[in-house]
Amino acid sequence: MRSMLIPGKATAILGSQFGDEGKGKFVDLLAQDADLVCRVQGGNNAGHTIWVEGRKVVTHLLPSGVLHPQCEVAIGAGVVVDPLVLCDEILRLKEQGFDLAPERVHIDFRATAILPAHKAQDLKREFERGQSGNAIGTTGRGIGPAYASRAQRDVPRLAECLTPGFLENFAQSESPLAEGLTPETLSEFMEACQFLRPYLKDVAMLVHNRLNDGARVMIEGAQGGLLDVSYGTYPFVTSSNLIAGSCPGGIGMPPTRVGNIIGVAKAYSTRVGHGPFPGELKGALEESIRERGHEFGSTTGRSRRIGWLDLVALRYMAQVNGYQSLALMKSDVLCGLEHVGVVTAYKDSRTGQLMQGWPMTAVAWESVEPVVEFEPGWERVLGVKNTLDESLERFVKRIEDWIGIPVSYISTGAERSEGLWRNLR
Ligand code: IMP
Repeated sequence: MRSMLIPGKATAILGSQFGDEGKGKFVDLLAQDADLVCRVQGGNNAGHTIWVEGRKVVTHLLPSGVLHPQCEVAIGAGVVVDPLVLCDEILRLKEQGFDLAPERVHIDFRATAILPAHKAQDLKREFERGQSGNAIGTTGRGIGPAYASRAQRDVPRLAECLTPGFLENFAQSESPLAEGLTPETLSEFMEACQFLRPYLKDVAMLVHNRLNDGARVMIEGAQGGLLDVSYGTYPFVTSSNLIAGSCPGGIGMPPTRVGNIIGVAKAYSTRVGHGPFPGELKGALEESIRERGHEFGSTTGRSRRIGWLDLVALRYMAQVNGYQSLALMKSDVLCGLEHVGVVTAYKDSRTGQLMQGWPMTAVAWESVEPVVEFEPGWERVLGVKNTLDESLERFVKRIEDWIGIPVSYISTGAERSEGLWRNLR
C-alpha cells in the first residue's frame, strides 16, 4: 500500500457517494506511510470514525492522519474552521493520548472562521426552508453561511481573529455577523483563537516545502462527490466543491502535484439529509443494514438513509474526479443477504425511457426511477486462504467493469487489520 503514496506527490482520497463512505478508516490505513495528511474543504460538518484496537476515535476537523505520530497534519485555507470546535477536538484527542504538538499540526492563517452568527443563520435558514417543504437537512454547523460570507468578503479569517483589537471592534460593529458575540461568547471565542495561535502557519508554503523535500502527502476529502455544490444533487448538497479538481486549491498546492486519486465507496449507499437517492431501501432491510453498518451520523447522530450501490452515480463520479482506483468499504455489512442490488440505470418515470446523462435539476430528479439488478449475495467476506469470497469477488468485478477502474482495497471489517489489498502498482 506504500506504493499508493508517491514521494514528492499528493494522493487524494475522495468520497464518491454522499459522504460517510469510510474514508476515515482508509485514510488512517494509508497514513501509516504518509508524511503529511491535509484537509482542504468543508468544516466540522464532516465526521470520521476510526476504530483502533477496539477504541473509537472520532475527528471532525483534524485529518485522520493525526492518529499516526510520524505523520504531520494540515488544515488548508479552503476549510471553514470553528475555533471552539477545533480547540475542543485538539484537547479531546490529547486526552486520548495522541500527540497534538504544534510542530505536527498546521492550520492555515487564511482559513475562514465560523462565527456564532453563522450557526444561528444555518439553523434559521434550514427552519425557513423546512416551513416551505424545501429543507436540505444541513448539519447546522454554520458551514454554508460561513462560505457565503467568505464569498461576500464579510467574515474574518483566522488571521484577522488573531489581529490585536480586531475581534473586539468587530463585535461592536454593525455587521450582522457580530450578532451572538456577547461579552461572554466573545471572550470564549477569543480564548479559542489564542489557543490555536501556535498552530497557525502559512500552510501552502509548508506543503510546498514538504513536497520539494520528497514527502508523501495525502489529501483527505470531506463529504462525498454527490454532495459537491456544483456536481452533486443540487440544491441538496453541501456548500463547497469536493471533486478532485478543486482539492489542491484548498491547500494552495499546484494540481500538477497530485499524483494519485482514489475514490472511496461503500458496498451500498447511505445519505443523511434530504435529496434524491436512487435505489433507496425502505422497511426491514433498510433497518437491518443501518443497524449492522452503524449508520448513524458521527456529527449529528441522525439515522442515515440506506440504499443499494448506485453504479450510475459511481461511474459519473469516476469520470468527474478521474479516480485511478477505488476502495470498497463495509462489504461485511451485507453478509448473509441472498441477493445484493446495484442500480444500473435511471428511467424517466414520466416516459418510461432510460435517461441519458446525469439529471441536472431537482425536477428531473423527481422523475428518476432506478433500475436495480441483483447479484448473488455472500455469507462471509473471505473464502479460502485469505481470498475474497467468490460472490463478493464477482460483485467487485462487476463494479470494476462498470466504472472501468480497478478496486484496490476491499474493507472487510471496522478494524485496521480487516481488509484486502489488490491490483497494486
Ligand atoms: P451542510 O454541509 O451542513 O451545509 O449540509 C448540507 C448537506 O450535506 C446535508 O444533507 C448534510 O447532511 C450533508 N453533509 C454535510 N457533511 C456531511 C458529511 O460529512 N457526511 C455526510 N453528509 C454530510
